[in-house]
Amino acid sequence: MNFDLTEEQLAVQAAARDFAQTELLPGVIERDEHQKFPAEQIKKLGELGFLGMMVDPKYGGSGMDTVSYVLAMEEISKVDASASVVMSVNNSLVCWGLEKYGNEEQKQKYLTKLATGEIIGAFCLSEPEAGSDATSQRTTAEDKGDYYLLNGTKNWITNGSTASVYLVIAQTDVAKGHRGINALIVERGMEGFVVGPKENKLGIRGSDTHSLMFTDVKVPKENRIGEDGFGFKFAMSTLSGGRIGIAAQALGIASGAFELALKYSKERKAFGKEISQHQAIQFKLADMATNIDAARLLCLQAADDKDNHRDYGKSGAMAKLFASKTAMDTTVEAVQIHGGYGFVKEYHVERLMRDAKITQIYEGTSEIQKIVISRELLKA
Ligand code: CAA
Ligand code: FAD
Repeated sequence: MNFDLTEEQLAVQAAARDFAQTELLPGVIERDEHQKFPAEQIKKLGELGFLGMMVDPKYGGSGMDTVSYVLAMEEISKVDASASVVMSVNNSLVCWGLEKYGNEEQKQKYLTKLATGEIIGAFCLSEPEAGSDATSQRTTAEDKGDYYLLNGTKNWITNGSTASVYLVIAQTDVAKGHRGINALIVERGMEGFVVGPKENKLGIRGSDTHSLMFTDVKVPKENRIGEDGFGFKFAMSTLSGGRIGIAAQALGIASGAFELALKYSKERKAFGKEISQHQAIQFKLADMATNIDAARLLCLQAADDKDNHRDYGKSGAMAKLFASKTAMDTTVEAVQIHGGYGFVKEYHVERLMRDAKITQIYEGTSEIQKIVISRELLKA
């Protein structure tokens, strides 16, 4: 592997860093406190091509590789993980899923708008009683000839109230197990589709997480993605790439907290010298930097696997598993290095610590990543 970044990749990284500092940083504390969705910032991210980064330009995308996507996700997540989860869901779950498995009509109708950020999308797999155990979902998509009748509830849906297009995974034939599941494109405003109240969360408070209720929603057959019964594999395959995005989000949260802690340790004095001169603090910094570098290598490895058409299920799961633990460990230590100041909002690290936790839960918990990794190891 050669991880010398190309000029184009470096330019994407620099643009994302600049955007994060100038557009996201100024209001990030307030948005977190008031659970305010970064609507203007997301619109600008779309205009800059960050919402359809890997989509073919013929569908309005930026035509970049996964490595560039990882670099951009890291930079945005250093500052605002609420914005970066919107970016991640739109890029790696919704756009990628549609581009890879949608038909030409679906791409023309939906992908072109999603890739430019004109609209944003949501990915709807989890349910109140089925999260990790995704095949045990209860939402039904009854085959009615030229349409599916959709009934059920999806839970914890990112972009729940701000999306226009929802990729909904539902059971058509329970007897067939995972082969009886379909993925449907549901539009906001379809009759019988109701968005539930917003969740009041520990972290990523600027992102809007909602339950969605479907009651006799008629979804035209042409809105099914792939063959009949392909829905579960669609979800699994899409999530394999999504996990690289969330790994990069976790990496960004960790590196954002590290940069703040490093800077603070050189400013704050205790016992007559900068706290960075105390070995206990130096060792914390050394551990943080080592883990962050390892997490970055795992993210780049997974992205490189995807870009070069190698299997990336295991490498993506490893990246997410390790980067999310690194995000948690690093942010806790960043708060510690800041002492009492770390406990208040102005210093950013407490928010990063709260934001870090979700990276160990969504797109498959850490336990699920270990299942994915170990199954691959045993298969081999
Ligand atoms: N790509 C393609 N197909 C896959 C696949 C992949 N990565 N992984 C599994 N499959 C296929 C299998 O080959 C199998 O098909 P066959 O029987 O034809 O071989 C089928 O899918 C079922 O696979 P499993 O038997 O492995 O299924 P399982 O019930 O044991 O579950 C699991 C496996 C990995 C635990 C899975 O249920 C899982 O990933 N759970 C976590 C769910 C999750 O990640 N949810 C995230 C929701 S989205 C989100 O969270 C977004 C956000 O926050 C921002
Ligand atoms: P459970 O599956 O009930 O798990 C509970 C605990 O048991 C976990 O620790 C888990 O690891 C453990 N566990 C479960 N099974 C096993 C096992 N076999 N072995 C070992 N341990 C196990 N979902 C979407 O579809 N779309 C979204 O956009 C989305 N966004 C989200 C945003 C937020 C803020 C949150 C909180 C969640 C979001 N989710 C979304 C849902 C998320 O993917 C699930 O919460 C996650 O997959 C875990 O499911 P669960 O909450 O039902 O936990």
